[in-house]
Amino acid sequence: MTRRRPETELVEAGRRPEWTRGIVNPAVWRASTILFDSVAAMKAANPPTEGVLHYGRNGTPTIWALCDALTALEPGAAMTRLYPSGSAAVAGALLSVLETGDELLMVDTAYGPTRSLCDTVLKRFGVATRYYDPLIGVGIAELIGEKTKAVFMESPGTHTFEVQDVPAICAAAKARGLVTLIDNTWATPLFFKSVAAGVDLSILACTKYIGGHADLMLGAVTATEAVADRLERTRRVLGQTAGPDEAWLALRGLRTLDVRLRRHEENGVKVARWLEGRSEVARVLHPGLEGDPGHALWKRDFSGATGLFSFALNADEAARTRLIDALELFGIGYSWGGYESLVVPADPARTATRPDFGGPLVRLHVGLEHADDLIADLEAGLSRL
Ligand SMILES: Cc1ncc(COP(=O)(O)O)c(C=O)c1O
Repeated sequence: MTRRRPETELVEAGRRPEWTRGIVNPAVWRASTILFDSVAAMKAANPPTEGVLHYGRNGTPTIWALCDALTALEPGAAMTRLYPSGSAAVAGALLSVLETGDELLMVDTAYGPTRSLCDTVLKRFGVATRYYDPLIGVGIAELIGEKTKAVFMESPGTHTFEVQDVPAICAAAKARGLVTLIDNTWATPLFFKSVAAGVDLSILACTKYIGGHADLMLGAVTATEAVADRLERTRRVLGQTAGPDEAWLALRGLRTLDVRLRRHEENGVKVARWLEGRSEVARVLHPGLEGDPGHALWKRDFSGATGLFSFALNADEAARTRLIDALELFGIGYSWGGYESLVVPADPARTATRPDFGGPLVRLHVGLEHADDLIADLEAGLSRL
């Protein structure tokens, strides 16, 4: 059969009959102990392999179905493993490829807890982190030294949405034998095929768009053959796994990812364009807008934009607080990717670069409400500045 389109893959992937037994969404298989018929059968099940019941930590059909589906969405990938949160997935991926004495090149726009992991735990274990400009592109080659082991990307970047030249960075890293990792949570594999772009370890906080309903914590790492074994061995000794209920919720969310993301995109672009026309707004940071510096790369590499972006206010921090507090349809809360709109003050943590966006940043997650209602809410909020 010819390769299926991503929309079809979203519906079909992971639904192997031996796992679903005909049930459309695979059932929740909860297990710690799994009984063997004999000592010989127990021995034969080692080492544990995906698809063979062994022990709860090594998965049940609910977990395997989700892993299978996420792998199918990244052409060129060999396997996926689950973690209890997106942050745990970042840690699981990095710990599988780094060791004492190594240097990690980390994008300056990485998610805050990813930076903290580098600056605390990895540092404690003798791994040095060097932060780099998200717009570095092929220039990454000049930062690669004797001890550099891996390059970590996040595109677009947290809070400020710079688009990285992922294929160029991966090519430069590969030429020097480095491992490449990306946090692909914003785009999901539906809008950015990270493994095809050259990434070895692609990380998702399934907590966001894969779940899509703001009711689960889950992470995933999808790996190429070259790093799959290291990822799995590290996951196993660290005891990382996810609950089958979370995997089941994520599978349920995954099936509607395409229609949800299209609406997030449409609403997000509409709200962003409206904000661009407001005098209270200094700048809108959204790679899907024609005037955004990352637009050309986004258009080349991505097949869509999601609902998360920021804007800079032509006002001070106190005004930003007044605006956020005044909004009614945008809830104030951490995370994003659920069906509902959210807002937070965004204060990027940077050390390698210090861009000036013209005012304090507000990050919006544009949900599935009617865009005109969201615009009316923002208009009322901006009128209070
Ligand atoms: C880009 C990005 N990566 C990873 C995470 C972490 O995911 P989790 O909250 O599931 O730990 C987040 C959470 O906000 C995020 O925004």
